[in-house]
Parts: sequence; C-alpha cells; structure tokens
Amino acid sequence: MERKIGFGIIGCGVIADFHANALFGLSEEAVLVGVADARLPAAERFAKEKQVRAFASVEEMLACPEIDVVTICVPSGLHAELAIKAANAGKHIIVEKPMAITKEQLDAMEEACIRNGVMLSSVAQSRFTSGVRKAKQAIEDGYLGKMVCADVYMKFNRTQEYYNTGGWRGTKAMDGGGALMNQGIHGVDLLLYLAGDVKSVYAVSKTLARQIEVEDTLSAVLEFKSGATGVIQATTSVYPGYPRRLELNGDKGTIVLEEGNLVRWDMEDTTLPEVTLKSNVRSSASAPTDFSADNHTKQFKDVIQALRNGTKPLVDLREGRRAVDLILAIYKSAEEKRVIEL
Ligand SMILES: NC(=O)c1ccc[n+]([C@@H]2O[C@H](COP(=O)([O-])OP(=O)(O)OC[C@H]3O[C@@H](n4cnc5c(N)ncnc54)[C@H](O)[C@@H]3O)[C@@H](O)[C@H]2O)c1
Repeated sequence: MERKIGFGIIGCGVIADFHANALFGLSEEAVLVGVADARLPAAERFAKEKQVRAFASVEEMLACPEIDVVTICVPSGLHAELAIKAANAGKHIIVEKPMAITKEQLDAMEEACIRNGVMLSSVAQSRFTSGVRKAKQAIEDGYLGKMVCADVYMKFNRTQEYYNTGGWRGTKAMDGGGALMNQGIHGVDLLLYLAGDVKSVYAVSKTLARQIEVEDTLSAVLEFKSGATGVIQATTSVYPGYPRRLELNGDKGTIVLEEGNLVRWDMEDTTLPEVTLKSNVRSSASAPTDFSADNHTKQFKDVIQALRNGTKPLVDLREGRRAVDLILAIYKSAEEKRVIEL
C-alpha cells in the first residue's frame, strides 16, 4: 500500500480520544478518515473537534473505500459483534482490550478474520513501554536464569461514580468482569508475555466495596508451564490506589516494573549491562485516563508496519486472546472453587 492507510474509529467515548491522538501522531503514514457512534450526536461532536468526517452509521463507515482499518472503541461486550461486521466488510481491525469477553465471541472473531483474510490487533499498549521491552529482552537472553516467581499486583481505585458512568461499566454483559477483566487485563497480558503460558490456576473473587455485578477484588495463584509459580492480585476498591507492580524473580536475577518503568534490576552476574531505574511518574491507578497516548501510538505504528510488510503485528489475534482466555479460566476457578487446568 503506497498511500496513507485510512482509519475509522467506531465508538466516540473516553478511549477514542487516545486512538485519534495516536493516529495524528502517525500522520505521515496514516489518516483518520472519520468516526461513527451509535449516538450520532456523539460522533458529530467528536468529528467536529478532530476535523474529520462523521459517518451516519457503522454500516456507512464500513462501506467507505478510503477506510482500510477500523478501531473498535465500544463497550467490551460489543467488540465481537462489531469486529465480525468489520471483517465481513474486508476491513482490518484494531480492537480495544479486552478483545472480547467470552470464549464463543473470541472464537467467532477469529473465524471471521481468518475467513476474510483480515488482520486483527488487540490493544495491549503496555507491551510497548521501554521498560517492558527491556525486561522481555533480558528474559529472552537468560539474565534471570530459571524463572521462580512471576507476580502482578494491581491495587487500583475506581469510585462508585466511575462505575455509574456509561451505563455498561461493572456489568457482566458488557464489561464481562471487573477488576481483572477491565482494569487488570494489561497486567495479565504482561505476565503471560514475560513469563509464558499458565498451566493451572486457583482464584478467589469478591465484590467487597462497590455496587457492581462483577468482582472488585480478586486473587489468583498460578502455576506456569515453565514450573514457576505466580500471583495475580486485582482490585479497584482500595484507597488511594497504587501503580501496577510486576515482579519477575529468577534464580539469577530479578526485574520489577511499576507501570512501564523498571524499578529494580538486580542481576547476580555483575558483568551484564545495567539499566537506569525510574521512579514512577504517571499511573491510572486512581484516575482511569491518567496515561499518555504514546503507547497506543507505538502499537498503531506496529500495526501499520505489519500491514505494509505483510507480517504479523506484535499483538495479533492469538496474542490478544491469551489474556482473556486466562481470565476466563480464573473466573471459572473462583466460581467453581477448584483448580482449573488450562
Ligand atoms: N487500552 C486502555 O487502556 C483502555 C482504557 C479505557 C477503555 N478501554 C476500552 O475501550 C472500550 C471503550 O471504553 P470507553 O471508556 O471509551 O467507553 P465509553 O462508554 O466512554 O464509550 C463507548 C462509546 O461507544 C458507543 N457505542 C456503544 N455501542 C455502540 C455501537 N453498537 N456502535 C457504535 N458505537 C457504540 C457509545 O455511544 C460510546 O460513545 C472498552 O472496551 C474499554 O475496555 C481501554
């Protein structure tokens, strides 16, 4: 494709702004053609602000030949339905996290994308931070030796007012889950990306302090296929809320990340390269939108490169569903109060 790649955004709520800004940051290679929303005034308002076209409907957008890729920014329970429509219209897809909220939806999306020969990338912007890139390389290069523990702690704060906005937040049908499926999925994705697949899980899930249908607090114990053990803690109900902390301990070294920043890099082999540690400056631990669009920009750039080169994006369909598949197994464990083998 020689021309700029044309994008359309479906759903003009909170996260759509990050997608528009990511695309404006890639203006040499990509162009935001227009937006659509089930609420036409929302699409018109957003389109006016960004000086792009407001489509009268999703169908009208999907019929537009200038659009090569749609980005899906609607409530999570609707991701599959819209992704399948987009795939059937021959559009490539960037879908917000979680890719979908049930196994049936994930399978149907996968089938539609394969049948139509379109690419799907699921948003996992945390993978694109420099701290995570360095951690990934160090693990692949064997700096940590044998992985012993891989844990993620996500002790966040979302107020009842947050859950009351949008109508869909905290509902089983549209959010698909709570502290883990919505806010915690980034940490789950990173854990799988850095520590590998999980073999079995046992979890306890509670709704302790918010009036929502889904969990506001969950703890899970994991056994990885590598033999390492792990812990996932996710809550949206603690005061004041803390940055996500990811701990990777091997028998020869330890890496700890707070959000995307390396805060510990302790290697037994002192001849290995050092890194500069950073204290965390920005986190969405207590404010849902307190993060920059930079990592969305990096992921969108990766997708554009993949489309141009006919290669896979870093977070393709299979990679995107890994975190959801694990979360669904964790929910099953909590519900049935037993260990689930994956
Ligand atoms: N990557 C991240 O860090 C991140 C952060 C926030 C939200 N998200 C994800 O983004 C998605 C949207 O979240 P949000 O906070 O922007 O929600 P929101 O409620 O602010 O916006 C959703 C928009 O979708 C529109 N919509 C609903 N049904 C539609 C349909 N059938 N067709 C077209 N438009 C429709 C609504 O009118 C609304 O404008 C969720 O899946 C959420 O998990 C990701």
